[in-house]
Formats: sequence, structure tokens, C-alpha cells
Amino acid sequence: MTAHALLSILLAAIALAEPVQYCRYGHQKGEVDFCMGVTTHLNHTTLAHDMYLRMTVTRDSNKGWTAIGTGPEMAGSLMFIVYGDPESGEGPLLSIRTATGHQQPRLLTPTDMGGADLLVLRADWMPVAHPQSHEVRPRRRGTYVAEVAVVCFACSRWPGSPITATTGSQPWIWAWNAAQDDMIYTFDTHLDMHAHHAGNGGWGNFYLDMSRSLSTDVMRPSLPPLRSGVRMLGASDSPIGAEGLVASIRARPLVNTHGILMGAAFLLLFPVGGAAIRSGLGKSFKYHWVIQLVASGFVWAGAVLGVIMSRGGSFATPHQVAGAVLALTLGAQGLLGWQHHVRFIKLRRRTWISHAHIWLGRAAMLGGWANMLSGLVLSGHGRTAMAVGGLMGLEAMVMLAWTWFVKMRVTRVADRDGNPAPSDRGAENGLYFSIGQSEDEEDAEGMAADQVREEKPRKSMSI
Ligand code: HEM
Ligand SMILES: *[C@@H]1O[C@H](CO)[C@@H](O)[C@H](O)[C@H]1NC(C)=O
Repeated sequence: MTAHALLSILLAAIALAEPVQYCRYGHQKGEVDFCMGVTTHLNHTTLAHDMYLRMTVTRDSNKGWTAIGTGPEMAGSLMFIVYGDPESGEGPLLSIRTATGHQQPRLLTPTDMGGADLLVLRADWMPVAHPQSHEVRPRRRGTYVAEVAVVCFACSRWPGSPITATTGSQPWIWAWNAAQDDMIYTFDTHLDMHAHHAGNGGWGNFYLDMSRSLSTDVMRPSLPPLRSGVRMLGASDSPIGAEGLVASIRARPLVNTHGILMGAAFLLLFPVGGAAIRSGLGKSFKYHWVIQLVASGFVWAGAVLGVIMSRGGSFATPHQVAGAVLALTLGAQGLLGWQHHVRFIKLRRRTWISHAHIWLGRAAMLGGWANMLSGLVLSGHGRTAMAVGGLMGLEAMVMLAWTWFVKMRVTRVADRDGNPAPSDRGAENGLYFSIGQSEDEEDAEGMAADQVREEKPRKSMSI
């Protein structure tokens, strides 16, 4: 093989970029239906990255609009909005806009572009053979695909939320309104809003591995082909890889910190603190209250962030209301725990306060879990919600098993020594001294050890 041939193979490998694509095929189900593909290109003249974008929208109506946009949210997004009447004889409209927040996106002005430049290559309707052509009552309108293609020259210079050709996880958004029937087919027509809230099919996020599509060839690349029937190629519904995860957390610090605090409290700290009180360790009581107090602190901090996030909006969703109630409940829970402790030392037995503390604790834990799931669903993280729900199920089983294990251990110690008086046994194992086989041992806790150990020398636990 000549050096020249080798070199050309090497160069070809370097230039071997693969277009990426993301599609949602919802037309049959009455959901959003679009497909988009991207190729990025290092422009050797401008030394900036150009983005070649192809998009199709399948529809059989003249109502509403379908849009994709760069970035994790509306603000700063470069939006490509498609609408029009397929049977009007006019092509579909590709209206390219941006938004400063949760408002009507507006048309771009030259000053918005920051050196980027847009060129629309095509916008046509293509009729689609109806898949159910033997339908008894054919629809009045046929099904059409709007095909649009655009180049965004020096797109990496877009001054809004970053468009990065080298990233493995570029956030995008999509949004859809299928109902607006007073559309005027001009580029600046007023758009009615998409459906509120994630999971309602009105909007969503997706992520592209832009680096996979990056061509460094001198020649301009061809438009990305859209492979039909393929839902994702170098794309994902969630951030891609560690890079994507970190970026998505940093993109929305308030929401994510809120979620991380709540997750740490309800998935990690509260369960560990609950297990600690039954751990049989000498300091179990201390571990319990310290961990639960820290966890409560996390929840209070998270709740404050939640209130800040709700600024200007309404405070009426079940997630917000239940969250506020939970945050207050944890205060009461702490007071109950402390009162229980004070009385327990005096009386050496449980009172109603003990049971209130135990059951309110369990309820708060379950409430927190439910509210975490609703928060995830509300913010469009349905898949994460499913994974987190699985984790919660697992934790619940471990907690139940742990409770059962501890109970059996105590019972067996009592049985083996033929001693039905659990208080004596407790004195020896430094635990459970006053309640022995009762249902809920958890708060006979370490203080039992502190109180009783000096009465008798401690015997090591044999089980
Ligand atoms: C037509 C005018 C539009 C209006 C009035 C509007 C308004 C809003 C409002 C009020 C929200 C908050 C909704 C909620 O609480 O669930 C929202 C969220 C959202 N919208 Fe729009 N929107 C419009 C167009 C668009 C377009 C064209 C796109 C996409 C290209 C889009 C993408 C999104 C996304 C992804 C979110 C959630 C993420 C976020 O920004 O926090 N919207 N919009
Ligand atoms: C590089 O960018 C310029 C304008 O930004 C464009 O006219 C030219 O076609 C691009 N070159 C290639 C090879 O794509």
C-alpha cells in the first residue's frame, strides 16, 4: 500500500462523520410527529461550526404548529417552527424564532444572530400514502409530511443558549400545538401556546451527540438523511453520558439542586436514619437524630428553593402543596422525637408520643417518596421517575426485611435464654431493654444502652 493510499484512508476515517437524528412517531396515536437530523461541519473558511438541519413534520390537518429548538429551555433557544395548510398549494412555513422566556417566541432580528447566518434550503409538502387505505370512511384530508432543510452558518456563534458542535450531549427542545385553528400563514403569525406541563405531550427535551455528526472535511457535507422508522441515532431522551448529566444540572441549577437535596434526604438519609435506630449500635440513638435532623435540613433548604422556583407562578399543584405540608411536618416530627426521648428516659416505656413519632415518620417518608415521583413527572422526567420508583420499592423491601430481622433477633435472644423479661435481656445486649418483643423497637435505641449499661456488665451479643 502506498503512503498516499494510507493517508487517504486516514483522512477518510477522520472525516467519517455520521448524521444524528431524533424522531417521535406519534401521528397514529394523535401525538406529536416529527423527525430531525443534524450534521455539523467545521467551516474551514470561517473556522466556525455550521449546522445542517433537516426536519420533517407529519400531519393531516392545517391546525397548530410543531417546533424544535436548541438549548434546554425556551429562553435563548434557536427555534424552528413549522406550520401551514398542506392542501393550500403553498409550501409549509418554517418560522425561525427565539424567546426570552416562557412567552410567545418572536422572529429573529440580525442583532439576535451574533454572527450566525441562516439559509433555508427547502420547505415542501410531500403526500404520504395512507397506511390504512382500506379504511371504511377515509379521512377528508390526506396525510402530508412537511420537509424542511436549513443551514445555520457559523451556528456555534449563536449568542443564545450554546450550540456546540463538539459536545456529546447538546440539549434540544420540542413543542407542539395541534389545536390552534386561527392560524394565519405568515412567518410572524401569533402562535397559541403548547400544552402545559411535561408529559402532556405538549413539549419535551432531547439530546444529540453533536460530536458524532461533526465533519471536518474541507468540502461542505450533504444534508443529513432521515432514516425512516429510526427513532434515535446518536440521540437520547435524556442527557448523554457524564458530560450531559453535569451540563444539564448546571443548566438549571435551581431545579436540580432542589431535586438533589430532596433525593438525598428521602432516598438516602431518612432511610439510613431509620435503619440506624434499629442498628443495635451503642450510639444508634445519636446516629438517628443527627441523620434525621440533617435530612430535615436538606428538605427545608430544598423547600426554600421550591418556593423560589414558584415565584411569580401559582402555588397550587399537589406537588407544591404536599411539599409544603411535608416540610412543616418534619418540624413536628423532630419535636415529637425529642419529646419521646425526654419521656422515655423518665418512664422507660413508650407513650402515645412515641407512636406518633414512629407513624408520622413513616407517613412522611412515604409522602416524600410520592412527592419526589410527582416532581419528576411534573418536570418531564417520567423515565427517571420509573427508575427512582424502582429504587424506592427496593428500599422499602430492605427496610421491611431489616425490621423483621431485628425483631427476630430480639425474640430469639429472649427465647433462647428462657427469659421472658425483655428488660433484662436489653440490659445485656445494650439494646431493646424496655420493650423487647413489642412491635416497634426502633426507639428503645441507644439511649437504652447509656442508661442501663452501668447496671450490669455488658455481655457481648451472641447473635
Ligand atoms: C407559542 C407561544 C409559546 C408560549 C406562549 C409558550 C409558553 C410557555 C409556558 C407558559 C411554559 C411553562 C409551561 C409549564 O409550566 O409547563 C412553557 C414551557 C416550555 N416551552 Fe413554551 N411557549 C411557546 C412556544 C414554545 C416553542 C415554539 C417551543 C419549542 C421550540 C417551546 C418549548 C417549551 C419548553 C421545552 C418548555 C419547558 C422548558 C422550559 O422552558 O422550562 N415553547 N412555554
Ligand atoms: C463557510 O461559511 C460561509 C459563510 O459563513 C459559506 O458561504 C461557505 O459556503 C461555507 N463553506 C463551506 C465549505 O461550507
